[in-house]
Amino acid sequence: MMQPGMREMQELNMNTSMKDVIAWYEKKTESIIGKYGPGPRVHFHTGLVEPDATPAPNIDGLNRQLVQSQENLLLEAARFWNAESHLCGTVLDVGCGLGGSSIFLAQEYEAHVHALTNVPGHIPWISHFVDQAGVADRVEPILGDACAVPGEQVYDSVMAIESSCYLDRADWFRHLVERVQQGGRVFIADCFALSDEVREPFDRYWLTRIGTVEEYTSTAEEEGFKMDGLLDLTSRTARFWELSTLYSRRLLGSQVPEREAERLRRSIRWQTQLLGMWNNGKIMCALLRLVLS
Ligand SMILES: C[S@@+](CC[C@H](N)C(=O)[O-])C[C@H]1O[C@@H](n2cnc3c(N)ncnc32)[C@H](O)[C@@H]1O
Repeated sequence: MMQPGMREMQELNMNTSMKDVIAWYEKKTESIIGKYGPGPRVHFHTGLVEPDATPAPNIDGLNRQLVQSQENLLLEAARFWNAESHLCGTVLDVGCGLGGSSIFLAQEYEAHVHALTNVPGHIPWISHFVDQAGVADRVEPILGDACAVPGEQVYDSVMAIESSCYLDRADWFRHLVERVQQGGRVFIADCFALSDEVREPFDRYWLTRIGTVEEYTSTAEEEGFKMDGLLDLTSRTARFWELSTLYSRRLLGSQVPEREAERLRRSIRWQTQLLGMWNNGKIMCALLRLVLS
């Protein structure tokens, strides 16, 4: 159905914050692949970690645990989103990172996926991983903005894993209503603020605009989407941050250049603070299901 390859890049109407997000991700590519690689399914999102999981004693073991936890979150999401029925057609993977979830859908559910990123330097990486996974006939990397998706495709479903927190939800849902079939679904995995005090530090670190479930619901409803279900994964994802900070500590204990050491120290400080918010009911990590009615 779809040809592999990249659509022509459209002129992006970038404001400063979009530029900042792109620059941030361009800079992070190597550390993302180091931490969550080697691929081909590389994810950059939270994972599900069992309460009795024992952290691995070394960097390689922690890398495998983190990747497995991310795959576990995708499996849980696929169950909650009924992927067999709703994520097997033509799907838009919004803010696809390095394409891990797009490859997951193509391999597990034979979906045809448009893997959308706004980061130019990620396109060759997505193509590389897609080729490696043998799904180049089913996953097409696309460079563009989630609120102005290039092309004309109207999708069966849209999936956004930890990317909707970057978007102006009013603009996004207004755009999606044109690009999702009647009765089609929008599936979201993300963090939601339960307290105002988390907004500033969260957005400052990730360059996001975190929202609340109420804001998502009312904004989506204004455009004709209906909230169809929410699965709270906060407690089941909390230990991801424990493993993640442990990974950074182990890396810090090895020989790393000073600039990388500073990045790791900042990451540890932030993720420790974030884990506190996670455990103290200030933030929710959840899966949402919306349907265009
Ligand atoms: C936390 S990462 C998640 C990546 C991927 N969904 C995953 O789970 O591995 C957030 C992603 O959103 C993308 N993103 C942010 N703003 C975007 C926009 N306006 N249009 C398209 N992608 C965007 C970033 O480039 C990045 O790939």
